[in-house]
Amino acid sequence: MDKLVSLCKRKGFIFQSSSIYGGVNGCWDFGPLGVELKRNLKDDWWYVFVQQRDDMVGLDASIIMHPDVWVASGHVEAFHDMLTDCKDCKKRYRADHLETENCPECGGELTEPKAFNSMLRTQLGVSEDTAVNTYLRPETCQSIFVDFKEIYSSTRVKVPFGIAQVGKSFRNEVNPRNFIFRSREFEQMEIEFFCREAEEEEWFARWQKDIWQWYLDIGLSEDKLRWYEHPKESLAHYSKRTVDVEYDFPFGWGELQGLANRGTFDLTAHSKKSGKDLSFFDQESNERFIPTVLEPSAGADRATLAVLCDAYCEEEVPAGKDGKTETRTVMRFAPQLAPIKAAVLPLVKKEGLAEIAQDLERTLRKKFNTYYDHAGAIGRRYRRQDEIGTPFCICVDFDTKEDETVTIRERDSMEQVRIPMAEVSDYIGKRVSHERD
Ligand code: GAP
Repeated sequence: MDKLVSLCKRKGFIFQSSSIYGGVNGCWDFGPLGVELKRNLKDDWWYVFVQQRDDMVGLDASIIMHPDVWVASGHVEAFHDMLTDCKDCKKRYRADHLETENCPECGGELTEPKAFNSMLRTQLGVSEDTAVNTYLRPETCQSIFVDFKEIYSSTRVKVPFGIAQVGKSFRNEVNPRNFIFRSREFEQMEIEFFCREAEEEEWFARWQKDIWQWYLDIGLSEDKLRWYEHPKESLAHYSKRTVDVEYDFPFGWGELQGLANRGTFDLTAHSKKSGKDLSFFDQESNERFIPTVLEPSAGADRATLAVLCDAYCEEEVPAGKDGKTETRTVMRFAPQLAPIKAAVLPLVKKEGLAEIAQDLERTLRKKFNTYYDHAGAIGRRYRRQDEIGTPFCICVDFDTKEDETVTIRERDSMEQVRIPMAEVSDYIGKRVSHERD
């Protein structure tokens, strides 16, 4: 984990927020490569779960909602952690995370656990006396429930269908830890899928299958994934059943995403609190009912962390001609997620090769994210691209001037093929796109 965190900082994937001021615990900034990686991951999720399905529509709702939303959802009442403080060193812990009766740090006596709401409070309005207290949303899904009627009456969707949203959520986590795994500000990729109660088990099984497949498609190793079924007694207040996808991180198994059966809890609660009917009317069967909700709820930061962990690889490769080897660090990202898809490298900067390479890079840039580099020996430049996970390096050499062909080196196998320059865009485009057979 230390090696990965250091690579992320050194190469500009992820660093701590406000680090020149000492940092903010649980808040992270995604740098030039990190923003591309996470955006590609979110785009892939949206492509697979929204654009490629005919039973799904999207939403991008505001982060700040009416405070009553959080009363109806149960968060004001139930979104609590039980906290306990050490009377000696004053460290604070989540009582349910403690394995000892005393402070794990200094052995001191602990206070009685007290409930502490994990939502981040904020005030809406500039005047002290009229400002309204509300919260930054702790999950993206509540706006889907609140907007349910607006969405189904403005589109032609019919149950069964889903509404998807990707966006920021905020939680005052007591112990943010494990790099970006548990943060205070993070992004969720959530779907609320509305179906009939009679079909809930069938849909639950279908969602399990689709979710699992997506994690495989973004490159995670199947032997590092598993399902965890929550026992009945530890289910969240809204859930009839929850299963999690877990990933075997270097710090142990951790939740990547949940799949919950929320029943009719949320639509019923918001109907009652707002006084607005959130039932669904099926014109074909002339039936009015509150649909059952299945919720595949994933974390974009946790998925990004799993992708980074799975991609990280160190291997011995030949160096020079006398049988020596060197260690190469390579990020084996799935091509559709790689921050940079192709680097264009002139063999040398001189003799017109740089100009040809720059022209080629400008052409390719219109189709996918590219990079141009002429600094240092070609071998070193390949290594730099391996370390940030660029799947293809295109080398422009002296033959290019003669026959307009280039060499394409593939990151994982390091194999090279020679193809006409005019075919490079198609060759790489096919291999890095979202499209799958
Ligand atoms: N709407 C249901 C819900 O929010 P959750 O299990 O609390 O359920 C869903 O959160 C997903 O959001 C988690 O599986 C995880 O991927 C992500 N997540 C939750 N808390 C997080 C945190 N503090 N930091 C990063 N990701 C988090």
